[in-house]
Amino acid sequence: MPRKPPPSRRPAPPPAKHTHTGRWEGKPKPDWLSRALARAGVLPQEEAEQAIQAGRVSVNGKVVKSPLAPVSPGASVRVDGLPVSLEAPTRVIAFHKPAELLTSTVSQHRVGTVYEVLLPQLPPELAGFTWHAMGRLDRGTTGLLLFTNDDKLVTHVTSPETHLTKRYVATVFSEADEEKVAPLRQGVELEDGTARPAKVVLRDPHTVEVTVTEGRNHQVKRMLGAVGLPVRALHREAVGGVELDVPEGSFRLLTDAELAEGLRYTPSS
Ligand code: URA
Repeated sequence: MPRKPPPSRRPAPPPAKHTHTGRWEGKPKPDWLSRALARAGVLPQEEAEQAIQAGRVSVNGKVVKSPLAPVSPGASVRVDGLPVSLEAPTRVIAFHKPAELLTSTVSQHRVGTVYEVLLPQLPPELAGFTWHAMGRLDRGTTGLLLFTNDDKLVTHVTSPETHLTKRYVATVFSEADEEKVAPLRQGVELEDGTARPAKVVLRDPHTVEVTVTEGRNHQVKRMLGAVGLPVRALHREAVGGVELDVPEGSFRLLTDAELAEGLRYTPSS
């Protein structure tokens, strides 16, 4: 069986035509057959590669045995003779991350990561997609972590330009009071630049709610550290209008309305 080239040696996805404006001519871009099947949730990428190499996949009536063959979203594709659609609906998973798991942004890295706990729980209709975490939570941080099969949504949620809120609750070692947290509302100096003003609520002297609109590395811990409140534990309660409402280690699928209203996103597709 031909061995698949490592990702770094794979050819670039097939080119699409540009118009004079520099935009893609027509929305759908061609993709590799195996990746298109995985993106559409038909088969996980490795299984798609195996199915293609075994001659189980046809494109526009012809069996194609190369996983890297270009295919456009409008192509007529069959797996084992059954028609499949390459148009993937945008799906979003809200996962309650337990502590002691790493957030890797790609589902290939499994052991010790959030994917090790999430992927085995997914029902067949979700298991075929390639899932991307939207942003990272530190290993010790618990709470809401969103995943999607739509790359553009990852950019939308993680970009500071979107100003989507992320609400955290921090347990701090020393006693917090209004005077100590006040600078967070103005914007504290961090080594990589001033943090945007945050919304801060003192729930009790050791519990501080902080809502930010950026997602820099260790941002909330660094902000609280900057005002003399080192963090003992951190938990994310909400992203935009999406509130964490599932038990630790479990997940649920967001509705299209939550995607539109909670994350302010309309799939372009
Ligand atoms: N800010 C942090 O410091 N850690 C996280 O995990 C998330 C935000």
